Amino acid sequence: MTYTKKVPQSVQWHETHLTLLDQTKLPLETVFIDLFTIEDVWESITSLKVRGAPAIGITAAYGLALSAKDYEETSLQDFKIKLHSDKEYLASSRPTAVNLIWALNRLVGSIEDSTSVNEAKTNLIHEAIRIQAEDEEVCRQIGENALTLFKDGFKVLTICNAGSIATARYGTALAPFHLSAQHGINLEVYASETRPVLQGARLTTWELLQSGIDVTLITDNMAAHTIAEKGIDAIIVGADRITANGDTANKIGTFNLAILANTFGIPFYVAAPLSTFDVSLESGKDIPIEERNPEEVTHVNGVRIAPEGVQVYNPAFDVTPNKLITAIITEKGILQGDLQSEIKSLFEK
Ligand code: MRU
Repeated sequence: MTYTKKVPQSVQWHETHLTLLDQTKLPLETVFIDLFTIEDVWESITSLKVRGAPAIGITAAYGLALSAKDYEETSLQDFKIKLHSDKEYLASSRPTAVNLIWALNRLVGSIEDSTSVNEAKTNLIHEAIRIQAEDEEVCRQIGENALTLFKDGFKVLTICNAGSIATARYGTALAPFHLSAQHGINLEVYASETRPVLQGARLTTWELLQSGIDVTLITDNMAAHTIAEKGIDAIIVGADRITANGDTANKIGTFNLAILANTFGIPFYVAAPLSTFDVSLESGKDIPIEERNPEEVTHVNGVRIAPEGVQVYNPAFDVTPNKLITAIITEKGILQGDLQSEIKSLFEK
């Protein structure tokens, strides 16, 4: 089966508003929500109604364009001051995924040469549309590149959801699976549930089932046993921020999988667009790691599972050191070996 477009687009622009697939409701309900204000957009990103680094960036870009469309400022200078303050507000919605600030900076850059407020408003909308359109092609290319690493019959483990609904389409880590049938390659996916918010159990399995891909769900603590017993051939994950030396922040639990891959001697791949690289940071030590509400850990579906008053530590991401990463798969090719110098030459081009 080819990628059938059965998976809905998670972010849709409609000139007067933005429509999001509410990812907190999946897989039990497929609900779309309309956002009309920048506050709605901020809340949707913070509460994970939209999540995944590229989708967060796309949503924030539309959010900024949506807000700017209604500015009453008549001078370009005042317009830019207001835009800057809205940009800062949206940038505060989630700290780890660098695609958020990357997309917002692109929007601000797109009005540098605007000669009127109206032209600036139009440019912002066009830039947001361009970011989304480019991301679809970038993800397709990541999928094509990743597929060169997988042989027919491979069993591949992933975590979280780095899929179509986390991007404009196809995803990053899930893109090769969506494209595999077109290439006549059969792959078996093992999806780790991804506590605490269960993006693997709720979203990755749902998305892959829609595309007719062979997927098996495991809980996070089954990973080592599953690699040993099922003969997992490779692990592939997405990324929220990759620093100049190749250290990679991704969903909490990714680092565990990288250690397991190393122990079992199987490849550990990171799939990510160039928009996820932050070469201004030297290493993963500098990446801000989001800590989320303790209730994500103490409750499941609103039901308390841990005693009242217990202390909770809830980091949403961890950092996998470059030495545990076999390769980083980008739209521009596959980086391997000395990741630091590979990244340096990629960004010098
Ligand atoms: O907290 P989330 O669900 O936004 O975390 C998402 C991830 O960690 C993804 O792997 C990453 O953003 C890449 S999405 C293509």
